[in-house]
Amino acid sequence: MELIKVKDYDAMSEEACAFLVERINRIENPVLGLATGSTPEGLYKRIIEKYNQNEVSFKKVKSFNLDEYVGLEKEDPNSYYYFMKDKLFDHVDISLDNVRVPNGVAADLKQECEAHEAGIKAAGGIDVQLLGIGANGHIGFNEPGTPFTSKTQVVDLEQSTIEANARFFNSIEEVPTQAISMGIETIMNSNEILLLVSGENKADALAKLINGEVTEDVPASVLQNHANVTIIADEAALSVVN
Ligand code: F6R
Repeated sequence: MELIKVKDYDAMSEEACAFLVERINRIENPVLGLATGSTPEGLYKRIIEKYNQNEVSFKKVKSFNLDEYVGLEKEDPNSYYYFMKDKLFDHVDISLDNVRVPNGVAADLKQECEAHEAGIKAAGGIDVQLLGIGANGHIGFNEPGTPFTSKTQVVDLEQSTIEANARFFNSIEEVPTQAISMGIETIMNSNEILLLVSGENKADALAKLINGEVTEDVPASVLQNHANVTIIADEAALSVVN
């Protein structure tokens, strides 16, 4: 694992932008695994700036999102499809035919999970997977205890995750209790992984990931077993790592 230490959220976003732009420009037909949440927002803002300055194009990019809430329509402002359009897709030259966010309202959710896996396979696998981390160590929505052999599946969200994500909803009752999430094995099959970590509330999870044992109790600890992981973390997130 390569650990890049930066000062704060802005510096993390800047560094992540340079990292991703370099890959998009270098890889012939880049296949990206994308994340939502607060962590990558600054990165997406900067990538849009680079696009507007003609420094990067998404014409040849295919993307697969990590997860989606079960029960939210694409048009729902809290859906991750909506997030991706709002924060990135609507502002760059990516074709919506080349993006795949799991469909959280599919009639057959199991089949939808299989279709996500099949899509990734058909694209030749993920070149660069972007990740955030939950305070409980989750990656994607793979909560503690998820088998490392998991593929894309419907998962139950932990109460702590529901509480953490309630900030985006009118009330905690509106937060879905389930999601479709790429599995841990799906994530680990990516050629390269970029994990972004910012803030003190992630410091314990990051310390366990870097110094702790590899255990399904801390899903992110599996990244120790991946050959090509870069972590960009700010000072607050690194406050517990010695
Ligand atoms: C998002 C995702 C989650 C988040 C994590 C951190 O697609 O899969 O694992 O990366 O919950 O969320 P934020 O960035 O909001 O702190």
